[in-house]
Amino acid sequence: MLAAWACSGGALAAVVQAPSPLSSASSSSASLQVLHWWTSASERKAADLLVERLRDERIDWQDAAIPGGAGIGAGKVLKGRVLAGDAPEAAQMIGVSIAEWADLGLLLELDNVASAGNWQRFLFPAIDALIRHRKHAMAVPLGIHRVNTLYYNRALFARLRLAPPQSWAEFESVAARLQAAGVQPLAQSSEAWQVAALFENLVLDNGPAFYRELFVRRSPAAAFDARTAEALRRLRVVKGWSRGQLEERGWTDVVGRFARGQAGMLIMGDWAKAELAEYGQAPDREYACAAAPGTGRYHLYSVDTLAMFAGDYRHQGAQEKMARLLVTPAVQADFNALKGGVPVRRDADPARMDSCARASWTTFARGAAVQAPSMVHRMATDEASRDAIIAEVHRFFLDERAPVEQAQRRLAALFRLFNLGTQGVPVAQDTDR
Ligand code: BGC
Repeated sequence: MLAAWACSGGALAAVVQAPSPLSSASSSSASLQVLHWWTSASERKAADLLVERLRDERIDWQDAAIPGGAGIGAGKVLKGRVLAGDAPEAAQMIGVSIAEWADLGLLLELDNVASAGNWQRFLFPAIDALIRHRKHAMAVPLGIHRVNTLYYNRALFARLRLAPPQSWAEFESVAARLQAAGVQPLAQSSEAWQVAALFENLVLDNGPAFYRELFVRRSPAAAFDARTAEALRRLRVVKGWSRGQLEERGWTDVVGRFARGQAGMLIMGDWAKAELAEYGQAPDREYACAAAPGTGRYHLYSVDTLAMFAGDYRHQGAQEKMARLLVTPAVQADFNALKGGVPVRRDADPARMDSCARASWTTFARGAAVQAPSMVHRMATDEASRDAIIAEVHRFFLDERAPVEQAQRRLAALFRLFNLGTQGVPVAQDTDR
């Protein structure tokens, strides 16, 4: 939606730059308000580590946390605040949204920090591409999450002599064995973004090239492809495993159900690993990590980034200092150990990571051919397209009478509409370019 305003970017920038009560109240150059959606217990701990490290640098992090998994609420609050001339100094802003805001001329360019710190030398190329817009560094990368992580309960799998499923067929047979033992196979919510996250995992079974056709290029032909039909049918199969027990739960509740042994498996980004630690659980002890079926060689990623709002240049010194600090090896290692993700740096030490993180980092390091940008987490498309795709997949999931072909037709129609705006030009996160 923001992209549509790009032509009036100058006017909008003027609105945002007008002095607001917030900016005058927080005129101290060492105080930065940060808007983000890290509100679960584990996310809070990871954010608090940043708060402390910044305090050591005499920067006061004023917290503006907006609840809602995947930033569903935060994205909307941020838009409202910016339009009201009340932009925070820093905001968790990820994937294609960075380009959308940058196009409006609202973000602080971090080129000085990035070139003095030689970011290009140590960032993975995909990360460098992600934070750049028209060659300018527009955001600070914090960590990489692997969205196609499958967790399984080790004691349960040992007792039933089950191996983690590596393919869809194995996934179905493991689910049948768990059901026969009276265990719910997969912890899953019917919340829209969580359903769509499961769907993108099912699509990735076909490899990153097809995934990109569908979610990055949004090609109508890919929507009509038999592989999309198959992923939609599989989504229904997984829904069937819940035997009508599916509820709209927040992601932390879903993790809780898995932690309490109410389900044998969980497919979720590795932020769930940090939340499992809140239950005293650790990888290779209570649970182990694998990849969603058929995606073992691939990395479905969501990269956390903070962007800085320009407008009140009294904050620039502190904003740049913050940017410098967040990419340092120590902050990257410590933050990601608490957050569940992995460093954005190529020179990170995998020996210091747990087995889930090591698998994530080494897979990501293989490069663009194995990487797939998460549509749900704004890595593949602009926010409006993402919202529409999520809504369509969710509608299909909820309404069991909706035919697969109808969902395909509706997705194709959406894609045609979106592509009118871009004329089929690849969007920012198409790292195949
Ligand atoms: C973010 C994670 C966050 C997760 C759940 C993702 O979009 O990348 O940092 O933990 O959403 O809210």
